[in-house]
Amino acid sequence: MPPRTALPPIDPIKSAADLPENGVAIWLTFLTDIGESERAAYRGLLDPHETERHDRYKVAGARDEFLVGRALVRTTLSRYRDVAPADWRFETNRHGRPSIVGEAAGGLVFNLSHTRGLVALAVSRGCEIGIDVEAVGRESATFDLAGRYFSPTEAEWVRAATGPALAERFFAVWTLKEAYIKARGMGLALPLDGFSFALDDATDRPTIAFHEGCQDDPARWAFLRRRVSQDHRLAFAASPPDRINAVRVLRTVPLSGSVTDIDATDGAS
Ligand SMILES: CC(C)(COP(=O)(O)OP(=O)(O)OC[C@H]1O[C@@H](n2cnc3c(N)ncnc32)[C@H](O)[C@@H]1OP(=O)(O)O)[C@@H](O)C(=O)NCCC(=O)NCCS
Repeated sequence: MPPRTALPPIDPIKSAADLPENGVAIWLTFLTDIGESERAAYRGLLDPHETERHDRYKVAGARDEFLVGRALVRTTLSRYRDVAPADWRFETNRHGRPSIVGEAAGGLVFNLSHTRGLVALAVSRGCEIGIDVEAVGRESATFDLAGRYFSPTEAEWVRAATGPALAERFFAVWTLKEAYIKARGMGLALPLDGFSFALDDATDRPTIAFHEGCQDDPARWAFLRRRVSQDHRLAFAASPPDRINAVRVLRTVPLSGSVTDIDATDGAS
């Protein structure tokens, strides 16, 4: 593990001051922390397009993740700019990545991920970022997907493990690949076998290599991974790489004022 340097404790009231120019804040909301009164308030933050999307979800869990995700985005962005949570306006690129419309952005960039039980949001300024969270409890058949979605070297590395290590390797590669394609803003328009991750045996630190079909430069990127609960794994990608010099991971319940600084680190892991 790299050396860890404690950042000063966050002031939940003035957290804007705690997003350094080259830093990233990762905000986590666990769905078990949310009550019905909060959910009702979150619905009031949605714009008409979001409300329509929310109401279209047929699966209750996915609908809830969407609602809490949008509440987390809106309330968190309002920590950094003088814009009310319900007033943010978003647009999406042709691959679906949302960004803030107009001058309200003030350089802020964000990326959102949700999975069973957890929503995660990364916020920074003027850089490319991507985040992915996954719930690790899956049928073991899931791991066959390594052959379909991963590069040959990644699939070989995952399949070399057994038992719990197999799941850890699978989700390490999966979350890193998702974080990278989301940071590029292109989603699955990028070929998933056009780049490979490798994790250093000693440090667990991820590195990326690019193959034909995915033009990019490894020196542009830094990645980090976190085990954010017993059941959840997180990966984060940033360019330029010095963006992860100051990463703060915070747990919150949107609109509640509750913020816990769960992890402040210096550097990638
Ligand atoms: C859409 C995609 C970008 C992420 O999908 P996902 O992993 O299912 O979902 P996540 O919860 O991590 O992210 C969804 C959020 O990412 C954001 N997003 C959507 N398109 C995006 C894009 N092109 N780039 C960056 N972010 C994007 C949105 O905020 C979205 O939230 P919303 O649905 O509430 O609007 C894309 O990677 C995908 O379809 N993946 C499917 C899973 C897969 O096959 N992965 C292979 C892994 S090796």
